[in-house]
Amino acid sequence: MFLRNFWYVAAWDHELGPQPLGRTILGEPVVMYRTADGRPVAFEDRCCHRRAPLSLGRVVGNDLQCGYHGLVYDPEGHVIAVPGQTIAPPGARLRAYPVVERWQWIWIWMGDAAEADPAKIPNIYWHDNPEWAVVGGYLHMKCHYQLLVDNLLDLTHETFLHAKTIGNEHVARTPLAKVTRDTIADVAGSALEGCATDGRSVTAARWMIGIDPPPLYAKAGGFDKPGDKVDRWQIIRFEPPSHVWLDVGVATAGTGAPDGDRRHGITHVVVDSITPETETSTHYFWTFPRNYKVGDRGLSDFLQKGVHNTFLEDIGMLEGQQRIIDADPAAREVDINADAASIQARRAVAQLLEEEAHGRAGSRRRA
Ligand code: FES
Ligand SMILES: [Fe+2]
Repeated sequence: MFLRNFWYVAAWDHELGPQPLGRTILGEPVVMYRTADGRPVAFEDRCCHRRAPLSLGRVVGNDLQCGYHGLVYDPEGHVIAVPGQTIAPPGARLRAYPVVERWQWIWIWMGDAAEADPAKIPNIYWHDNPEWAVVGGYLHMKCHYQLLVDNLLDLTHETFLHAKTIGNEHVARTPLAKVTRDTIADVAGSALEGCATDGRSVTAARWMIGIDPPPLYAKAGGFDKPGDKVDRWQIIRFEPPSHVWLDVGVATAGTGAPDGDRRHGITHVVVDSITPETETSTHYFWTFPRNYKVGDRGLSDFLQKGVHNTFLEDIGMLEGQQRIIDADPAAREVDINADAASIQARRAVAQLLEEEAHGRAGSRRRA
């Protein structure tokens, strides 16, 4: 079961062109394309004649032609032409989904179209701001989306799974300082300061003071001399349905980063927009914006590869988890302290699912 009355990322902007793109989202086959006049369009990927996937068809001007018997659909999903007939069957149309292009991504609304307010799209301004350099990518994962949300809300796994890049023993050893539902914790100087505080998000913070820098940050920020010590932060933000943003970085130890002075450090945001494909598979759109050395392409390449390879390590673990869960879905799990944020996030989603089931979610607005 998925939350529907929310914006999900459906594609990178550069994925939509004159070729139709088929992608399953929340269990529904969706075809997307860009019209000749540049608009992104999405509707059911199921021809209403004999259910051929329209993603195997072709874009003709602003319209989409089925690749099987040639029915033509306009951008709203109406059949407007049938080969060999002068009149299209009345009422022949597909469900069209609201889509918006923003922040370099194509956002789709899978719920009640009347509720699809573009103002509800999260503010991820880092993507369009020249003060930030952005690397990013797309990964497909054969696991339920919530396993990835859990993974991002409990970063103690970095110690064990990502020792080559962002993990060292200090992460698992340092408890989360705060987990809150209504406010943004410990945000002095944080890149997440502008986020909404709407009572249904979850924020957690971890500060590691005077520690050895992890390998990726040591290299990226020049903290790689013997004896270098840093103050490291992880400020973690979950916003329903499945967006997770991390404000992460390191600064020379003792230079005031915990009080908001990051002049002696480097800041990154990890933007994770997670879109369920099915109950056991997930689309993962990620970026890794930074606000230092923004013109350094060599650093961008290094970070792109480093983060991509780090996430491949996550995929291996999460897909393994899903296989074990599928083998015995009723098997017991125990919770530990490090689960505090992911438990809160699951509760927030469960509450919203309940509200959607009773038709109330649409009445709530972002703060
Ligand atoms: S299945 Fe699409 S036109 Fe026949
Ligand atoms: Fe990870």
